[in-house]
Parts: sequence; structure tokens; C-alpha cells
Amino acid sequence: MKEFLIAGNWKMYKTKAEARAFAEELKAMNLPNASSVAIMAPFTQLDTLVEAFKGTGIKVGAQNVHYEKEGAYTGEISVDMLKEIGVDYCVVGHSERRQYFGETDETVNRKLKVLIDAGITPILCVGETLEQRNQGMPQIVIGNQLTHDLAGLTEDEVRHLVIAYEPIWAIGTGVTATPEQAADMCGFISGMIEGLFGEVCMSRVKILYGGSMKPENAEELLSQPSINGGLIGGASLKVDKFAEIAIEADRLSKL
Ligand code: 13P
Repeated sequence: MKEFLIAGNWKMYKTKAEARAFAEELKAMNLPNASSVAIMAPFTQLDTLVEAFKGTGIKVGAQNVHYEKEGAYTGEISVDMLKEIGVDYCVVGHSERRQYFGETDETVNRKLKVLIDAGITPILCVGETLEQRNQGMPQIVIGNQLTHDLAGLTEDEVRHLVIAYEPIWAIGTGVTATPEQAADMCGFISGMIEGLFGEVCMSRVKILYGGSMKPENAEELLSQPSINGGLIGGASLKVDKFAEIAIEADRLSKL
């Protein structure tokens, strides 16, 4: 039986009131696979969601963290602060953070370490630009990102990761990778984890696809053997669309 993770990434959307309303609607749907569902929310909405989802199994995650334990880092949030709120996940290395906020493979690597130490599951994002894909080298780009992002991590640490393959050209564009392209790259990532950390580790690491996933394409993407779920941006902002994807994953997990 395939275990999926269906994770919404709200990015910089939703106020506290909107988050609360979304949570109430989602809870009312009584998703059959609630514990395989998670929402990555803005920092200021995390406590609201943790509180609202208490007892439902639905998980909550942050979208970023700082790699130092504490210190003079104005505007940053530490792993202990996230832990205190009770989040289960944290997105690391999203392409928007790499592109607009100077996230590097080195900072990604440090963030992964502090999160794993704290028992928060990182969702590590990797992905190539359209230019890189057109030059025929998505594997080289993803291979490089993974090698640097995971540098110095042990097999025991890496098995706690979720990795999201998010081709940059498919994020927020409405253009989805074809199921074959997505499956190919998720399979490549899986093979790399096996090569670097062994088969047991590979079998534990969930690999998600992200990039314009929506109810209309969820089945063909999620039914690919190498894809264990989705990191969903736009479609996670509407409770009915998000729930539809989660319900589809539940159906596929029982086939
Ligand atoms: P979209 O689903 O809006 O393309 O966003 C994907 C994404 O970046 C999730 O992290």
C-alpha cells in the first residue's frame, strides 16, 4: 500500500481569519486520510492551525526556518520557536526562497540539520529552470542540489526527509510537468538517495511532485510509482480543490 503525503504550501496567502475558516471547512470534510495531509502556512498562522487541527491527524508545517539556535538575526524564526508551536514539517530550499531571498545549498544544508535534530521533518525542495531543462541537464542540476544540500548528513538523518521535486517552470504557471517527466525526475532522486545512503534509506524517503498540481491532474501524477505525494501551491488555497486531491490520493493508496 502506497503511503502518500499531500501537503499544501500556502506561500504568502491567508490571514489568520482565513486560515481559521479554511481549517474549519477542511475538518468538516472528515478526510479519510487526514494524517497524510499537511498545510505549510505563514509563520503567523501556524498556532491557529495547530490548535484547529488538534485531534484530527492533519499536520502543520512552516515554510522556512533559520539555521542558528538563536541570536541577533532580525526577522528570523528559530527551530525551537517552531517546535514550541508544535509543527511537524518545515519546507526548506523552496525555489522562491532560493530565487528571491538568497537561499543557498549551504544554508539549506544547515537548516536540514537543525530541523532533523529537533524532530521536525524537512520538506526539501529541488528543481531546475526551463533553461536548464532545455539544455538537457535537469539530472545534473538536481544531482548537484542534492549532493550539496545533503552534504555531511548521515543515512539515519536522511531517512527522516521528504523531498519535493518542483520544476521551477511548472510552479504557479499552470504548466504541469507531464507524468512521465515528473516520474522520471522523482525516480532519479530516489536512485540518488539509494546510491548515496542505501536502499533502506531510499525506501523511507517520500518524494513529492510540486508544480501546478490540481484535481484535474492529480490522478495521473500520483499514480506514478516514484511519486509519493504532492506539494501543492495554488490549488491548496481552495479547500474543495485541496480536499479533492487528498481524496484522490486516498483512493489510489487503496488500489
Ligand atoms: P503551484 O501549485 O501554485 O504551482 O505551486 C507549487 C509550489 O511551489 C509548491 O511549493
